[in-house]
Amino acid sequence: MTKTSEVDIWTPIKIGDCQLAHRVVLAPLTRNRASKSERYPSTWVPNDLMKEYYVKRATPGGLLITEATPVSLRASGLFGIPGSFTDEQQAGWRPIVSAVHDKGGYIFNQLWHQGRTTHSALIGGRQPESSSDIPMQGTFQWSGFDARPFEVPKPMTQEDISNTQNDFVNAAQKAMEVGFDGIEVHAGNGYLFDQFLHSNINKRTDKYGGSIEKRCRFVLETVGKLCEAIGPSKVAVRLTPFGMLFGQTFGENRLEQWSYLCRELGKFGLAYVHLVEPRFDELKSASEKQDALKDMISNGQEEVSLKPFREALGLSTPLITAGGFGPENANEGIQNGTSDLVAFGRYFVANPDLVDKLKDKEALYKWDRSRFYGPFVDNEVGYTVFPSREFAKKGDISKAQLAD
Ligand SMILES: Cc1cc2nc3c(=O)[nH]c(=O)nc-3n(C[C@H](O)[C@H](O)[C@H](O)COP(=O)(O)O)c2cc1C
Repeated sequence: MTKTSEVDIWTPIKIGDCQLAHRVVLAPLTRNRASKSERYPSTWVPNDLMKEYYVKRATPGGLLITEATPVSLRASGLFGIPGSFTDEQQAGWRPIVSAVHDKGGYIFNQLWHQGRTTHSALIGGRQPESSSDIPMQGTFQWSGFDARPFEVPKPMTQEDISNTQNDFVNAAQKAMEVGFDGIEVHAGNGYLFDQFLHSNINKRTDKYGGSIEKRCRFVLETVGKLCEAIGPSKVAVRLTPFGMLFGQTFGENRLEQWSYLCRELGKFGLAYVHLVEPRFDELKSASEKQDALKDMISNGQEEVSLKPFREALGLSTPLITAGGFGPENANEGIQNGTSDLVAFGRYFVANPDLVDKLKDKEALYKWDRSRFYGPFVDNEVGYTVFPSREFAKKGDISKAQLAD
């Protein structure tokens, strides 16, 4: 058996049914570049540009995770987001998956429900759903949509919960038909499942709220149904135990709750579990995030790290970690035992050939945040083409936005 100290991002590993040649993973990244459907209102379809984007990041034996994709119209919410529920969307994903496979890569489909973070105008006039009737603070402000206040969500009934679980199962089955190697349930970042996990949002008094076990029930039940439908080796889950996306998830008992969740997830035999490092936040710096977390961690534990969750999960389920990894610390999690694979987000946005660059120890380009989320008239810029880099060829490195 290989000793931990000898394992690094270049050591092969098996996850689910995929024999990976290395451990550098494309993190799920919403980029809003899909095409508007002419057939089904308020839905968006994967296109050739997206194919080029994914293929550029695929490597032999490397794992890609798609951007978050809604499992139903009700689960949707943003312009340019490709879904995973219509025949048209399936037809759009199929060539992308095939092209990634042709390059020897693997690809999991991240499945998503936005819950209260959407707006009725984007989901056919329906009221957004959540665990309870607690709305997001502030305004819904996204490209292509006039800013307006978030709405009070509908607390989901048992029927709504069962219907949503069926939507996840249907989307997972569609993903299998398309040829995806597996699905990843998005259960973090303040979206629907996270809205059940956080005690500041979930005020339910039924079997889905009121205690750690009850708040975890919705996601665990859904994972169980997915495992039954497509087999546990095709199912993965992403969690953000330290997430504060939108500054609005601040439930209590984070350590206890996510430890319980990881312990339970460890029993399914999943392809992998995916956790985001505490230091990462969309808007805060790593030190600002660390300070914000100190006030929030219960039971006096000093260390804010993924270690307790790895311990709770056990060693038989592969663990991907993401958040703040770069060339200098790429092996840190693997070598200290907190992770098995490393997902890169922003560096992969700016460096489609990230895997080769890491291998060859080449300098990386820095990302341009203003091109993260489309749709744009020139959707390809900052996505598949990077015009500012032409300056680098003329010797002006600073304009090419090389990372430090
Ligand atoms: C542009 C952008 C889009 C993202 N979209 C998603 C998403 O669709 N699903 C998800 O789980 N996380 C999403 N994230 C979080 C990333 O997967 C990742 O956890 C985060 O960027 C931290 O990794 P990094 O430091 O390597 O960028 C997104 C992050 C960025 C910057």
